[in-house]
Amino acid sequence: MKHFLRETDFNADEAAAVLELARDFKGGGNRSSGAALSGQSWGLIFSKSSTRTRVSFEVGIYELGGNALFLSRNDIQLGRGETVADTARVLSRYLHGLVVRTFDQSDVEELAEYGEIPVINALTDFLHPCQLYTDVFTAAERWAGAGDLAESLKGRKVAFFGDCANNVANSWLLGAGLFDMEIILSGPEEFAPGPEIQGLLKEKGFGGRYSFTTDPIEAARDADILYTDVWVSMGMEEEARERIEQMIPYAVTSELFGVARDDALFMHCLPAYAGKEVTQEVLDSDRSIIFDQAENRLHTQKAILATLAEARRS
Ligand code: CP
Ligand code: NVA
Repeated sequence: MKHFLRETDFNADEAAAVLELARDFKGGGNRSSGAALSGQSWGLIFSKSSTRTRVSFEVGIYELGGNALFLSRNDIQLGRGETVADTARVLSRYLHGLVVRTFDQSDVEELAEYGEIPVINALTDFLHPCQLYTDVFTAAERWAGAGDLAESLKGRKVAFFGDCANNVANSWLLGAGLFDMEIILSGPEEFAPGPEIQGLLKEKGFGGRYSFTTDPIEAARDADILYTDVWVSMGMEEEARERIEQMIPYAVTSELFGVARDDALFMHCLPAYAGKEVTQEVLDSDRSIIFDQAENRLHTQKAILATLAEARRS
């Protein structure tokens, strides 16, 4: 069974094909013409808040001819202690796939292990792979023109600022390896990439593709993308005050754009907090492609859904 729990669940060729399929869906005029999920019901198990992921998956499943069931953790017995394994076994008897937003990466792995249907990671504390595929698609559609999307990413430099140990940073680390990009992260020393992601990068042979610096100007120099995410991820609210004080030097400002490439893009997975991780000026600038990113969640996730459904049929 093919799942999408981490970026590398597709190899480089498969990942490139997902990006091309996303372009087809986006350019397809009639967005609802797809029938890849015709007659299928997919469950969305969410244990955390969501605007973009929830809505884009619900709409995307509908547009592919399927039916989406939103299952907040507390509305199902999982919230009262039914095991992840039993939940997987039971839901596999009704549904054709699961989209899961939760805390522990091990929960999505366990749903995949005990169920008999494809599982998509819609964000864990460790990774946010749907976001990463969308992000690279969004940059590539700027750079590739009519050419090959994945090819246009090769050798590009991404600079990531702030919490360099969170899910989106980890996803960028894996994604940079998969799409042959260079990544430099910049934040306080205690928010450098953690041992788990470092181990995974080594295992995948991506160990040489990234670096970390506490100097944000060094990170921004000649970058093609300046990327940031919230300083306080979901589940980390108790640490908010301390984190914000430490991260102030890593806010994305116009000054950083002064040393980046002239055509550098600003990207953020959203939600954004202006005046914290990024200035309002940068958010509003013509370098900012944040709402294209948000839109492209829909097209990219439709490509991921259709690819998994096709893999299951064949
Ligand atoms: N970027 C993202 O995943 O947004 P949501 O939390 O709104 O789904
Ligand atoms: N790192 C953020 C991403 C939100 C889409 C979080 O986990 O809250």
